[in-house]
Amino acid sequence: MLINDYVVVNSGLAITIEDWVTIAPHCQIVDGDHGTTDPERPIRQQDEDYVVAPVHIGRDVWLGCHVVVLKGVTIGAGATIGAGSVVTRDIPERAIAVGVPARVVGWRGGTPPAAGEDSRGAADTAQNEGTAEA
Ligand SMILES: CC(C)(COP(=O)(O)OP(=O)(O)OC[C@H]1O[C@@H](n2cnc3c(N)ncnc32)[C@H](O)[C@@H]1OP(=O)(O)O)[C@@H](O)C(=O)NCCC(=O)NCCS
Repeated sequence: MLINDYVVVNSGLAITIEDWVTIAPHCQIVDGDHGTTDPERPIRQQDEDYVVAPVHIGRDVWLGCHVVVLKGVTIGAGATIGAGSVVTRDIPERAIAVGVPARVVGWRGGTPPAAGEDSRGAADTAQNEGTAEA
């Protein structure tokens, strides 16, 4: 795993980051939202409504600089998230996703992985050859 400068991982429950993930500078990964339902009370006094949901960042994912990953999101193995994106929904394996909210605009290798295909691919090969660091 490579975590660059000024990355914030703000976890209230469970943020899982697998091997070979690359996190560019200024990314933020959070797994919770404050409660906001009662407009008569300050948000910080609505802890009973604080919602937490696990975040999972799969193997060999690359988060470009200034990416924000929000609660409950799974980013599939081998995916790329473009700079400045906000990931609000799951991203499939090997997808290239960009924007706010992040949407899939392409696939590593040109096509989505076939059903059942092991998309861990290159990272596993490098590790098997003993050439790399995770
Ligand atoms: C996502 C990324 C890898 C795609 O690179 P690419 O394959 O060369 O893609 P392109 O530059 O050809 O862009 C393809 C389209 O996506 C758009 N796009 C690319 N990156 C985008 C981003 N971060 N946010 C919004 N749109 C983006 C482009 O405008 C283009 O749209 P168009 O077809 O309508 O013109 C790259 O744009 C990116 O964001 N890199 C992150 C760099 C970084 O953070 N480096 C830190 C080093 S750890």
